[in-house]
Amino acid sequence: GKSTQIDLLTKHFTKRRKSVIKTEEPGGTAGSNEIRKILLRENNFQWSVETETLLFMAARSDHVEKVIKPAIKDNKIVICDRFMDSTLVYQGMRSPKAKQLSLTLFELIAINPDITFLIDMEPEIALNRALSRSTEEDRFENYGISFQRQLRQNFLDVANKHSDRIKIIDGKRSPQQVAAQIIDCVETLVK
Ligand code: TMP
Repeated sequence: GKSTQIDLLTKHFTKRRKSVIKTEEPGGTAGSNEIRKILLRENNFQWSVETETLLFMAARSDHVEKVIKPAIKDNKIVICDRFMDSTLVYQGMRSPKAKQLSLTLFELIAINPDITFLIDMEPEIALNRALSRSTEEDRFENYGISFQRQLRQNFLDVANKHSDRIKIIDGKRSPQQVAAQIIDCVETLVK
């Protein structure tokens, strides 16, 4: 559940008449959505992981410039499905050069979330869920279970390294229980 949780959090703030926008990566702008398509749908380009990183970062740059920074300037709460940590894990764990590249480019983007949630669950369950959705976007899900296990470990490592910003949430519980914990953390932060 990322999408479920993002919807529940957005609803929570909308009900309280807080200005909130919901967005996602890669995506959020017309240009970034085009980059998303070539990254996740068309499997025939065989990008190197470094080139893939440049594309994710280009999508992020456009998204931050056109959507996230203006929304923050307008005092809106921005809820984003994935951000820089996904690049550090998905691309960074496959190549130290890609990791360095993303960090260097991220300095130009110059914005960090106030809080990030990592919804943790067994990789087997997560993979089955992702595969059962049967979208055309199956690029990383096709890498199989050992890749998923590696992803989980790397996300946990990033979360432990930035424990002041990233909260690890136990995703085994009901969506309502997970949402209550997330809402509580964000409310504390907003206050
Ligand atoms: P999602 O919209 O279902 O989360 O899918 C996005 C996919 O893109 C997912 O497989 C993770 C991947 N991804 C990266 O590899 N690097 C990134 O920087 C981002 C934002 C996503």
